[in-house]
Amino acid sequence: MNLESVKNQITKVLVTEEQIVGRVAELAAEIDAKYAGKEVLLVGVLKGAVMFMADLSRALQIPSTMDWMALSSYGSGTVSSGVIRILKDLDAEIHGKHVIIVEDIIDSGLTLSWLAGTLESRGAASVDVVAFLRKPDAAKVDVPVWLVGFDIPNEFVVGYGLDYNEHYRTLNCVAVLDPKVYS
Ligand code: PRP
Repeated sequence: MNLESVKNQITKVLVTEEQIVGRVAELAAEIDAKYAGKEVLLVGVLKGAVMFMADLSRALQIPSTMDWMALSSYGSGTVSSGVIRILKDLDAEIHGKHVIIVEDIIDSGLTLSWLAGTLESRGAASVDVVAFLRKPDAAKVDVPVWLVGFDIPNEFVVGYGLDYNEHYRTLNCVAVLDPKVYS
Protein backbone atom coordinates (compact mmCIF):
# COMPACT_ATOMS: atom_id res chain seq x y z
CA MET A 1 0.00 0.00 0.00
CA ASN A 2 1.43 3.40 -0.92
CA LEU A 3 1.22 6.74 0.83
CA GLU A 4 -1.39 8.09 -1.55
CA SER A 5 -3.95 5.59 -0.22
CA VAL A 6 -3.69 6.86 3.39
CA LYS A 7 -2.70 10.48 2.81
CA ASN A 8 -5.60 11.86 4.85
CA GLN A 9 -4.81 9.59 7.84
CA ILE A 10 -1.16 10.45 8.40
CA THR A 11 0.56 13.70 9.35
CA LYS A 12 4.03 13.06 8.00
CA VAL A 13 6.40 10.47 6.61
CA LEU A 14 9.34 9.63 8.87
CA VAL A 15 11.07 7.04 6.69
CA THR A 16 10.50 6.76 2.95
CA GLU A 17 10.42 3.56 0.93
CA GLU A 18 13.74 4.54 -0.69
CA GLN A 19 15.37 5.10 2.71
CA ILE A 20 14.14 1.70 3.89
CA VAL A 21 15.60 -0.09 0.86
CA GLY A 22 18.97 1.65 1.31
CA ARG A 23 19.23 1.09 5.06
CA VAL A 24 18.16 -2.58 4.89
CA ALA A 25 20.99 -3.18 2.39
CA GLU A 26 23.47 -1.54 4.79
CA LEU A 27 22.25 -3.60 7.75
CA ALA A 28 22.49 -6.81 5.71
CA ALA A 29 26.07 -5.94 4.74
CA GLU A 30 26.97 -5.48 8.42
CA ILE A 31 25.49 -8.89 9.25
CA ASP A 32 27.26 -10.53 6.29
CA ALA A 33 30.58 -9.08 7.47
CA LYS A 34 30.25 -10.05 11.13
CA TYR A 35 28.93 -13.58 10.45
CA ALA A 36 31.02 -14.42 7.36
CA GLY A 37 31.53 -18.19 7.16
CA LYS A 38 28.70 -18.89 9.60
CA GLU A 39 24.99 -19.61 9.38
CA VAL A 40 22.53 -17.52 11.37
CA LEU A 41 19.07 -18.17 12.75
CA LEU A 42 16.85 -15.12 12.28
CA VAL A 43 14.22 -14.92 15.01
CA GLY A 44 11.32 -12.62 14.17
CA VAL A 45 8.76 -11.29 16.62
CA LEU A 46 5.23 -11.41 15.22
CA LYS A 47 3.62 -9.57 13.73
CA GLY A 48 5.42 -6.25 13.42
CA ALA A 49 8.73 -7.68 12.21
CA VAL A 50 7.29 -9.51 9.20
CA MET A 51 8.13 -6.87 6.57
CA PHE A 52 11.59 -6.11 7.97
CA MET A 53 12.37 -9.83 8.21
CA ALA A 54 11.27 -10.43 4.62
CA ASP A 55 13.51 -7.68 3.24
CA LEU A 56 16.51 -8.15 5.55
CA SER A 57 16.66 -11.93 5.11
CA ARG A 58 16.60 -11.66 1.32
CA ALA A 59 19.36 -9.05 1.36
CA LEU A 60 21.72 -11.37 3.25
CA GLN A 61 24.42 -13.30 1.37
CA ILE A 62 25.29 -15.63 4.27
CA PRO A 63 23.08 -18.70 4.81
CA SER A 64 20.21 -18.17 7.21
CA THR A 65 17.15 -19.92 8.58
CA MET A 66 14.08 -18.27 10.06
CA ASP A 67 11.86 -18.87 13.07
CA TRP A 68 9.14 -16.84 14.77
CA MET A 69 7.79 -16.03 18.20
CA ALA A 70 4.56 -14.34 19.22
CA LEU A 71 4.70 -12.49 22.53
CA SER A 72 2.24 -10.62 24.65
CA SER A 73 3.07 -8.11 27.32
CA TYR A 74 1.00 -8.17 30.50
CA GLY A 75 0.03 -4.68 31.48
CA SER A 76 -2.80 -2.30 32.08
CA GLY A 77 -3.87 -0.31 29.04
CA THR A 78 -0.91 1.07 27.17
CA VAL A 79 1.56 0.72 30.05
CA SER A 80 3.74 -2.34 29.70
CA SER A 81 4.66 -4.21 32.86
CA GLY A 82 7.72 -5.89 31.40
CA VAL A 83 6.26 -9.33 32.10
CA ILE A 84 6.11 -11.16 28.80
CA ARG A 85 3.96 -14.15 27.91
CA ILE A 86 4.87 -16.47 25.03
CA LEU A 87 1.87 -16.96 22.72
CA LYS A 88 3.87 -18.90 20.14
CA ASP A 89 7.29 -20.27 20.87
CA LEU A 90 10.09 -21.08 18.41
CA ASP A 91 9.57 -24.29 16.43
CA ALA A 92 13.09 -25.60 17.01
CA GLU A 93 15.88 -25.73 19.58
CA ILE A 94 18.41 -22.92 19.35
CA HIS A 95 21.21 -24.53 21.32
CA GLY A 96 24.57 -23.74 19.69
CA LYS A 97 23.08 -21.49 17.02
CA HIS A 98 23.99 -17.93 16.12
CA VAL A 99 20.72 -16.16 16.77
CA ILE A 100 19.81 -12.74 15.42
CA ILE A 101 16.61 -11.27 16.85
CA VAL A 102 14.85 -9.23 14.18
CA GLU A 103 12.49 -6.62 15.65
CA ASP A 104 10.44 -3.87 14.08
CA ILE A 105 10.62 -1.37 16.92
CA ILE A 106 12.13 -0.85 20.36
CA ASP A 107 9.85 1.38 22.39
CA SER A 108 10.18 0.77 26.14
CA GLY A 109 12.76 -1.92 25.37
CA LEU A 110 11.09 -4.38 27.72
CA THR A 111 10.22 -6.94 25.04
CA LEU A 112 13.75 -7.13 23.66
CA SER A 113 15.53 -7.12 26.95
CA TRP A 114 13.39 -10.09 28.08
CA LEU A 115 13.71 -11.92 24.74
CA ALA A 116 17.48 -11.58 24.43
CA GLY A 117 17.93 -12.93 27.96
CA THR A 118 15.52 -15.80 27.32
CA LEU A 119 17.26 -16.93 24.12
CA GLU A 120 20.69 -16.68 25.75
CA SER A 121 19.49 -18.89 28.59
CA ARG A 122 18.46 -21.53 26.04
CA GLY A 123 22.09 -21.99 25.08
CA ALA A 124 22.41 -20.06 21.84
CA ALA A 125 26.04 -19.74 20.69
CA SER A 126 25.41 -16.00 20.36
CA VAL A 127 22.47 -13.61 20.41
CA ASP A 128 22.43 -10.30 18.53
CA VAL A 129 19.59 -7.84 18.16
CA VAL A 130 18.78 -5.94 14.98
CA ALA A 131 15.91 -3.46 15.24
CA PHE A 132 14.42 -1.49 12.36
CA LEU A 133 13.24 1.45 14.51
CA ARG A 134 14.15 2.73 17.96
CA LYS A 135 12.29 5.29 20.05
CA PRO A 136 14.03 7.56 22.62
CA ASP A 137 12.70 5.69 25.69
CA ALA A 138 14.73 2.64 24.68
CA ALA A 139 17.84 4.43 25.91
CA LYS A 140 16.51 4.32 29.48
CA VAL A 141 16.73 0.56 29.79
CA ASP A 142 19.64 -1.74 29.20
CA VAL A 143 18.71 -3.20 25.82
CA PRO A 144 21.44 -5.16 24.08
CA VAL A 145 20.97 -3.80 20.56
CA TRP A 146 23.61 -4.33 17.91
CA LEU A 147 22.12 -2.59 14.85
CA VAL A 148 19.33 -0.03 14.47
CA GLY A 149 17.78 1.04 11.18
CA PHE A 150 16.48 4.44 12.24
CA ASP A 151 16.15 6.38 15.48
CA ILE A 152 12.77 8.08 15.48
CA PRO A 153 10.98 10.55 17.78
CA ASN A 154 8.37 9.45 20.29
CA GLU A 155 5.37 9.56 17.99
CA PHE A 156 2.72 7.00 17.05
CA VAL A 157 4.08 5.48 13.87
CA VAL A 158 2.56 3.00 11.46
CA GLY A 159 3.64 1.20 8.31
CA TYR A 160 6.28 -1.33 7.27
CA GLY A 161 4.83 -3.85 9.73
CA LEU A 162 3.70 -1.44 12.43
CA ASP A 163 -0.02 -1.21 13.02
CA TYR A 164 -2.85 0.68 14.62
CA ASN A 165 -5.60 -1.83 15.43
CA GLU A 166 -4.03 -4.21 12.90
CA HIS A 167 -4.28 -1.62 10.10
CA TYR A 168 -1.48 0.12 8.14
CA ARG A 169 1.01 -2.78 8.44
CA THR A 170 1.24 -3.00 4.64
CA LEU A 171 2.07 0.67 4.12
CA ASN A 172 5.41 0.79 2.26
CA CYS A 173 6.91 3.61 4.38
CA VAL A 174 6.90 4.66 8.06
CA ALA A 175 4.50 7.48 8.87
CA VAL A 176 3.06 9.33 11.86
CA LEU A 177 -0.60 8.51 12.34
CA ASP A 178 -2.91 11.50 12.52
CA PRO A 179 -4.28 11.66 16.11
CA LYS A 180 -7.79 12.13 14.70
CA VAL A 181 -7.66 8.45 13.69
CA TYR A 182 -7.36 7.20 17.28
CA SER A 183 -8.94 9.97 19.35
C1 PRP B 1 5.45 -4.11 19.46
C2 PRP B 1 6.74 -4.31 18.67
C3 PRP B 1 7.68 -4.91 19.66
C4 PRP B 1 7.23 -4.33 20.97
C5 PRP B 1 8.14 -3.22 21.36
O1 PRP B 1 4.72 -5.28 19.38
O2 PRP B 1 6.54 -5.14 17.56
O3 PRP B 1 7.59 -6.31 19.68
O4 PRP B 1 5.89 -3.84 20.79
O5 PRP B 1 7.71 -2.58 22.53
P1 PRP B 1 8.61 -2.45 23.83
O6 PRP B 1 9.98 -2.03 23.42
O7 PRP B 1 7.90 -1.36 24.59
O8 PRP B 1 8.60 -3.74 24.57
P2 PRP B 1 3.15 -5.36 19.63
O9 PRP B 1 2.91 -5.89 21.01
O10 PRP B 1 2.51 -4.04 19.30
O11 PRP B 1 2.68 -6.50 18.63
P3 PRP B 1 2.72 -6.54 17.01
O12 PRP B 1 4.17 -6.63 16.60
O13 PRP B 1 1.96 -7.77 16.65
O14 PRP B 1 2.06 -5.27 16.49
